Amino acid sequence: MKTSSVLGTLSPREFLSTYWQKKPLLIRQAIPDFRPPVDRDALFALAARDDVESRLITNFRQQWKMKHGPVDSLPSLSRKNWTLLVQGVNLHDDQADELLNRFRFIPDARLDDLMISYATDTGGVGPHFDSYDVFLLQAHGQRRWRIGPQKDLSLLEDLPLKILRNFTPAEEFVLNPGDMLYLPPQYAHEGVAAGECITYSIGFRAPSWQELGEAFLHFMAENVSLSGRYSDPDLGVATRPARIADDMLAKVSEQFARLASQREDIEIFLGEHLSEPKPSVWFDTPARPATLARFEAAMERRGLRLHRKSRMLYRGKFVFINGESFQPSASDRKLLEALADQRRLPAGQIGSASADLRQSLHQWYRDGWVVTG
Ligand code: SIN
Ligand code: CO
Repeated sequence: MKTSSVLGTLSPREFLSTYWQKKPLLIRQAIPDFRPPVDRDALFALAARDDVESRLITNFRQQWKMKHGPVDSLPSLSRKNWTLLVQGVNLHDDQADELLNRFRFIPDARLDDLMISYATDTGGVGPHFDSYDVFLLQAHGQRRWRIGPQKDLSLLEDLPLKILRNFTPAEEFVLNPGDMLYLPPQYAHEGVAAGECITYSIGFRAPSWQELGEAFLHFMAENVSLSGRYSDPDLGVATRPARIADDMLAKVSEQFARLASQREDIEIFLGEHLSEPKPSVWFDTPARPATLARFEAAMERRGLRLHRKSRMLYRGKFVFINGESFQPSASDRKLLEALADQRRLPAGQIGSASADLRQSLHQWYRDGWVVTG
């Protein structure tokens, strides 16, 4: 795996133990001579597409307004106080996706996406907090960040975006291109553009227990398989016939407790859930897909890559890709784990793939999940 650090002199281990989910960190020249892969015009072009999530936020005449994309007409570049936010840029640009490799000391299961913002002078999205960990990497121009650990996270009402009612910043930094600020979840912050400004936000998701619980129960509804049925050979005489007896409640509770503690179910659920692409993600399928034989020849010559939109994870005997789970043989599993970790398989490694795996890979190729080369 190609990983170059973004943490300056800190090791990933030091960063995780001292800062991750705990406190902010400013890293000057996290990426020295940073050459941003997506410039202003490329960002504007992305924002105009209907398969890309974007928002235009303006604060003209002291009034916050937000418009969801596709954004095909922008305010004048000479007008102050507006911001364009483009979500999931890593899904649409290989080099943007590659930038995320630098952050893979954090597991893929935690990664959300790369969001890029463009702002004119004094533009921003107001003082707020996020529920996610975020690395704010300055890409172009300057941004002044004010941040604070406040506990009061109450928001102003009736606004189209989340703005803190009482923002009390404790620190202030001006970031130049290549500088990066890490913020843990719930840390209050406001970034204001100092001239034309582009900021990259690398966000990490942390699902709420409610969201995970609902998704798990949905998964279980479709996958549950329980044998046997309720029985009570030891039934006593009912004196209050309408009452649900303690014994009945205990038997049912015991079954349900067993249901929710099947580790393998949780494993499969978690892998499928975390590898599920966002609802807005569509894969491009090859217009004239190669036959299995031609596909095999191509992958043995050039190797195989995960498409940048693919999410692939593994655990135990299971491999997960884009919301589906597989239980391959031990030797195929090794190959798939390598594909998931490196996001590619060199040509030389493909030879040992079984016929079954080749079939699956061919299907994934037809679905646009993997590409040769
Ligand atoms: C921005 O880039 O304008 C906002 C990013 C953030 O505050 O999370
Ligand atoms: Co934020």
